[in-house]
Amino acid sequence: MGLEEQSFVLITVVVAVLFSFATASCSNGECKVLEECANNGACQSGEYCFSCPLGFVGSRCVRSQISDQFKLVNNSLPFNKYAFLTTHNAFAIDTGVPRIAPTNQEDSISQQLNNGARALMLDTYDFKGEVWLCHSFRGNCYDSTAFGPAIDTLKEIEAFLSTNPGEIVTLILEDYVKAQNGLTKVFIDSGLMKYWFPLKNMPKNGQDWPLVSDMVANNQRLIVFTSNKSKEDTEEIAYQWNYMVENQYGNGGMHAGSCPNRAESSALDDKSKSLVLVNYFESIPIKQTACIHNSQPLIDMLQTCFAAAGNRWSNFVAVDFYKRSEGGGAFQAVDLLNGKLLCGCNDVHACTPGSTSPCTM
Ligand SMILES: *[C@@H]1O[C@H](CO)[C@@H](O)[C@H](O)[C@H]1NC(C)=O
Ligand SMILES: *[C@@H]1O[C@H](CO)[C@@H](O)[C@H](O)[C@H]1NC(C)=O
Repeated sequence: MGLEEQSFVLITVVVAVLFSFATASCSNGECKVLEECANNGACQSGEYCFSCPLGFVGSRCVRSQISDQFKLVNNSLPFNKYAFLTTHNAFAIDTGVPRIAPTNQEDSISQQLNNGARALMLDTYDFKGEVWLCHSFRGNCYDSTAFGPAIDTLKEIEAFLSTNPGEIVTLILEDYVKAQNGLTKVFIDSGLMKYWFPLKNMPKNGQDWPLVSDMVANNQRLIVFTSNKSKEDTEEIAYQWNYMVENQYGNGGMHAGSCPNRAESSALDDKSKSLVLVNYFESIPIKQTACIHNSQPLIDMLQTCFAAAGNRWSNFVAVDFYKRSEGGGAFQAVDLLNGKLLCGCNDVHACTPGSTSPCTM
């Protein structure tokens, strides 16, 4: 951020603080999205009290939880007919240990999952003879860039899948692990293999995925993708680019009106890949601007990428600081996608039987 931008932020913060003394008109868990709040307890459930000085004045309730499309509608369609909130660098949270790597999220993996994140992007490295989650350079992890052993995060995911038997979690690994069977070993040690979705059931030629209800019934509720091609043959871990297309990540993916594919992915409109992922986050994560990016510009990009993907709505939306927004944020974006995917409406709430939400197309 340049100096001018910084002073703009500062002035906006001062103005916002002055305005926040205005008395709120609601309280005690009654405040709706964008109503002024004094604390989290003032907001309705699924929301929290937040300030986005660049987006609105004062502290207001914004969403903090997903709408569960399986519970709201049903889980009887193929996996690729639903959309999922995805946390970019899900592991890169402040743990109080000094390091040079920036953070991309603010709450723990368990909190992310409990708030409705269903896909996690994790960077895996060989480090100290184990697999670690790290945000680093040239495939090597260092003390100053390491966040923690992968086993800790995988155990949190195991605990979530165990207590939520109807939910499916997808892991998208930027994988630098070179140790033979290094990933396989850490997945076995974490207790996650019992949920493993087998490679042989993943469609390779654009067919639909299995039904979510069948995946749940078979307890095949963990989908893992690696960026290392050879592991599909050696460890039966799916090579991401055989199954998914993705737009450019970082600033290159944030130019309004354009949705280019990232280098590793085939063209977005390659329909031999049944899953579509949209990245929308800055190259260098900045908390203060995330609430803007995660709002209308994200929705606009989903529209742009829909067209780029050959009229396909994305299944995954990857963001930084996923709870920061100007109101509905990434949660609303996922509601839009599920609405489009499940009933052609702009919000999944319009897909429920006997819904009072209007279906706007
Ligand atoms: C992919 O993993 C294998 C081990 O299964 C390793 O030998 C190879 O170096 C890795 N490739 C890359 C590009 O990291
Ligand atoms: C599940 O929801 C979809 C989308 O609304 C609908 O087309 C389908 O018929 C539903 N399936 C069942 C079994 O209710």
